[in-house]
Amino acid sequence: MAASPNFYSLFSGCGGLDLGFHEAGFIPRLSVDLDEVALAVHKNHLNSPVQCVDLSISDPAIPASARIDVLLAGSPCQGFSTAGRRQVDDPRNDLLLVASRVAEKHRPKVVVAENVPGALAGEHRRYWEALHQSMRSLGYKTKDYLLNSADFGVAQNRRRVVMISWRTKFDEVEEPARKPPITLRDVLLDLEGLANHNPIELAPESKHLKIARRIKPGQKLTNSRAGESSVHTWDIPEVFGRTNKRQREVLSTILRLRRQERKRAYGDADPVATSMLVKMFGKDILDQLLKKGYLRVLGEYLDLTSTFNGKYRRPNLDGLSRTVDTRFGDYTSVLHPEEHRSFTVREAARIQGFPDKKIFEGTLKEQFRMIGNAVPPPMAFAIANSVRRLL
Ligand SMILES: C[S@@+](CC[C@H](N)C(=O)[O-])C[C@H]1O[C@@H](n2cnc3c(N)ncnc32)[C@H](O)[C@@H]1O
Repeated sequence: MAASPNFYSLFSGCGGLDLGFHEAGFIPRLSVDLDEVALAVHKNHLNSPVQCVDLSISDPAIPASARIDVLLAGSPCQGFSTAGRRQVDDPRNDLLLVASRVAEKHRPKVVVAENVPGALAGEHRRYWEALHQSMRSLGYKTKDYLLNSADFGVAQNRRRVVMISWRTKFDEVEEPARKPPITLRDVLLDLEGLANHNPIELAPESKHLKIARRIKPGQKLTNSRAGESSVHTWDIPEVFGRTNKRQREVLSTILRLRRQERKRAYGDADPVATSMLVKMFGKDILDQLLKKGYLRVLGEYLDLTSTFNGKYRRPNLDGLSRTVDTRFGDYTSVLHPEEHRSFTVREAARIQGFPDKKIFEGTLKEQFRMIGNAVPPPMAFAIANSVRRLL
C-alpha cells in the first residue's frame, strides 16, 4: 500500500485547515504560526510538531531533505476582508506570498493557499495574481476555487477562495465534492456538559437583554436598513427613548433618504441636507428628535445617531449562521437563535464544523479569535480529497 501523503502547514492557527487534511488521511509533519496559544490548542488535538515563527521575517525550520507532499498556507485575511479597513498596502497582504517563498525552497508537490474572496477584488487582486505568477514560474499549474462552507455540510455561509498549485502529472484538479445542506438546528444539539460550553444569559434588566427581547430569529438591530429583518432603535423605546408616530415616520424617511441621496464615495449611506428635511417636516420635529438623541448635526446635514448596519443579529435555527468571525462571542454582534445570550465557544466551534473533542484554551477572546480565523474542517476535508487525487 502506498504511504500516506504528508502535509506541512503555514499560518496554521488552531488547525481548521490542518484538521480537514488530517481526517482525509494526510500525516501532519509541521504546523507554523506566530500565535502560541493557537499552536498549543493545535498540538493538544493533532499532536503534531508545531513551530512558533514570524513568517514575515523568517522561514520555518524545515530540513532541506524534507519530502513535502502538500504545503498549506491560510495566510491572514484582515487586509483583504471587506469586513475590515481593507487597505491595499496592509503589510499582512504580503504574507500571501510566503507560500511561494517556501515552495521555491522545498518544492512541495501541491500547495494550497486560502483566503477571503476580497483577495480577488479590485486592486487587492494583485497579491493573488502575484502568487499565481510566482507558482507558475516555479513550474506549478494553478487553479482557483470559490467555495462556500455551506456546500460542505457546514451550517454557515462562509465564502473562501482557494488556490491549488501542483506539479504532478495531472492536468486538472477535481472540484471538491459537495455535501447536502444542514442548518443550525442540526449542530446546536446535545451541548450540555461539553467542554468550552458555558452559556451565560444576559443580565436581568440590562439594556442588552431589553434589546435582545425585541430581536426575533432572522432579525438584527439596524438603522440603515428597512424591512422585516430590521429592528430600529426607535422600535425599542425602553432603551433608546420614546417617540410618537410622526417622529418615527420622520426617522424612517431619513433612513430611506440616507441611502438615496448619495454624496460620499464610501459607505452605503449619507447624512441628509438639513434644509431639505426642514422643508419636508418643519424645524420643530427635527429639534425634538435632536433633543431625544435620535438625530445629530453634521455641518449642514442631519444624520441618524446610530447608523450601524446590524448589531445583535439573531440567526434562524432553521437557517445558516453568517460567517463565524472573531467577534462571534460578543452578543452585541450575534445572539443565540433562541436564548438571550451570545454563542458559546463550543457552539461557535460546532458551527465551524470542529469536533467536540477539540478543546480550546486561552482567554475567551483568544478562543473566539482562533475559531473565527479557521477554515471549517469539513470544507478542508473536501479540498484535501481533491488534492489527494493529484498525488
Ligand atoms: C486565517 S488564520 C489561519 C487559520 C488556519 N489556517 C485554520 O484553518 O485554522 C491566519 C493565521 O496567521 C497567523 N499569522 C499572522 N501573521 C503571521 C506571521 N507574521 N507569521 C506567522 N503567522 C502569522 C495568525 O496567528 C493566524 O493564526
